[in-house]
Amino acid sequence: MENLLSTSQLSKEMVLELLQLADQYYELAKGKGYSNELEGKIMAALFYEPSTRTRLSTETAMLRLGGRVITAVGEEYSSLRKGETLGDTARVISNYADVVAIRHSKPGSAKEFAEGASVPVINCGDGPADHPTQALLEAYELYRNFGKLDGLTIAYIGDLKNSRTSNALLKLLSNFGGKAKLLSPPSLKLVEDSKYEGIEYEECESIEQALEGVDAIYSSRVRVEYFEDQSEYEKLKDYFVLTRDLLESNCPEALLLHALPRIDEIPEEVDDWKGARYFKALPGGVAVRMALLKKLLCT
Ligand code: NCD
Repeated sequence: MENLLSTSQLSKEMVLELLQLADQYYELAKGKGYSNELEGKIMAALFYEPSTRTRLSTETAMLRLGGRVITAVGEEYSSLRKGETLGDTARVISNYADVVAIRHSKPGSAKEFAEGASVPVINCGDGPADHPTQALLEAYELYRNFGKLDGLTIAYIGDLKNSRTSNALLKLLSNFGGKAKLLSPPSLKLVEDSKYEGIEYEECESIEQALEGVDAIYSSRVRVEYFEDQSEYEKLKDYFVLTRDLLESNCPEALLLHALPRIDEIPEEVDDWKGARYFKALPGGVAVRMALLKKLLCT
């Protein structure tokens, strides 16, 4: 693998290979032990959009494998703001780093960056379009719990129009079949282009319908950054709230995933529910990124 620019690059075989490698790194990811497999290598983390987990877990992954990290955060502090193209920034940074992790608000930005780069590039979120490493994190949590990814029924709830994370997980799981139950406010429905072949879709009208018979729920926040009218956002941000009562009565055995940050869609009372996995999945996020860095830098 040369780059990870889009979730559509991830075949079934590649996903399973990365998840199995992540298994080997899981304890290391939690800080138990140390590896020097990437000693001498440098990763540039370029985060031109807000990030907490993706940047710090990708940096942690590099550090846990003995590599080092240089970071640039915020477009306003970079030469992009002076008018430099992503391609030229890539030509420059390829002289400093052995691998680049990039997040930028423009769809296709990671690909544009990779066209100028001479080192591997990881897409850590390109606007509303894609977020392949987050999809790997969720897939790994599902895989750890079910021992497989084939044929799972998942409810996708929230802002499905703008959620790159839901979009990416659907794309990844389309390799494995299964069913997607979709529930969003009418103006935030999943666009037809994101209905990938291989998955059976059901549009739901209520939370109860969406939760019935699912293996897992993938909740997403309403993405405030894509609203021009703040009052419209205020109306939609708590449209579907997954209370503990709803979860316990409709899908007591299901897992609840969320890329975070959660806003109003999952109340804190749910955090210690047995199905709540959004915080428990975080070490797996480091492990899959370790597996990816190893694949990109050592094969
Ligand atoms: C997600 C993102 O940035 O798309 N967060 C993340 O990467 N952990 C989800 C979000 O911001 O809603």
